[in-house]
Amino acid sequence: EKEPVTVLVTGAAGQIGYALVAMIARGAMLGPNQPVILHMLDIEPAEEALKGVKMELMDAALPLLRGIVASTDVAEACKGVNIAVMLGGFPRKEGMERKDVMSKNVSIYKAQASALEKHAAADCKVLVVANPANTNALILKEFAPSIPDKNITCLTRLDHNRALAQIAERTKVHVSEVKNVIIWGNHSSTQYPDVNHATVQEKPVREAVSDDEWLNNEFISTVQQRGAAIIKARKLSSALSAASSACDHVRDWVLGTPKGSWVSMGVYSDGSYGIQPGLVYSFPVTCEKGEWSIVQGLEIDAFSRDKMDKTAQELIEEKELAKSCLN
Ligand code: NAI
Repeated sequence: EKEPVTVLVTGAAGQIGYALVAMIARGAMLGPNQPVILHMLDIEPAEEALKGVKMELMDAALPLLRGIVASTDVAEACKGVNIAVMLGGFPRKEGMERKDVMSKNVSIYKAQASALEKHAAADCKVLVVANPANTNALILKEFAPSIPDKNITCLTRLDHNRALAQIAERTKVHVSEVKNVIIWGNHSSTQYPDVNHATVQEKPVREAVSDDEWLNNEFISTVQQRGAAIIKARKLSSALSAASSACDHVRDWVLGTPKGSWVSMGVYSDGSYGIQPGLVYSFPVTCEKGEWSIVQGLEIDAFSRDKMDKTAQELIEEKELAKSCLN
């Protein structure tokens, strides 16, 4: 039998955590034959709730789940971790300045970066979900210099999946027949969902949809605003879709992307597509043997260029804001 993989979920007592830990323990993240040990971290005010989640995981009698650590101690939670999914963070509350929220998250990610660096497995892979996801990932990278850049990513797969779903709905095909959309940039409303290289049943999306007006406007804003639409409907932000997409992100990263298709991941920019190096930016990537690489050579038209640069600009500003919080 395979050795168990240790997966850390921070903010595990929260909404996404509640959906995610069960998915991980049922094999949705690492496959149906991979035993897992779950480490769940949250903060003291959520300690009782976290215990409750642990009780429920026990009660589900899950065959793949070989151990549970529920803790409010960062060092204990990070110990020996192979995969870290970071959901914990400070949410923006009404009346709060952007800078105040950034400042709270910068100190959380700085501290957790050091803990991961000290206690996690040397080849630990990190997925940051908590917002501002790209910039939290960047802070984590800065303060965990011994973790390779390539091991620190952020979640834009939910946006990617939302784009697939919109195209599937519009063209009345199953979502599995839509491929190779791209989310460029920030996990925020400036993200650019790009369909110029995507296909529906192997046909270019622009041919299959045959409505550029819709693709260039409503489609883009629907994907960008989907998070807000979920909040409006549920009075809570997306949780099950976020958890499901986090599983997709890690699964494809570890087990590889299917031949001929790519996915979107927030990764450390190497300057590809003229995106400033040193930003965590969402690119199209393929994965093989546990490593992602940015899909190269895609043609970028003027419409896309403009949108890719705007979302990069927002990330540059976030990075500066984060830096100013460090001083
Ligand atoms: P939530 O508020 O229900 O849960 C967050 C949990 O984190 C809480 O239990 C809280 O106690 C905990 N926490 C706070 N500070 C912590 C710290 N320093 N260490 C460990 N735990 C800590 O939030 P929800 O809905 O589960 O969302 C989690 C995050 O994911 C939010 O930042 C949200 O904005 C973000 N998000 C990102 C998405 C993406 O696609 N990248 C999609 C949906 C949500």
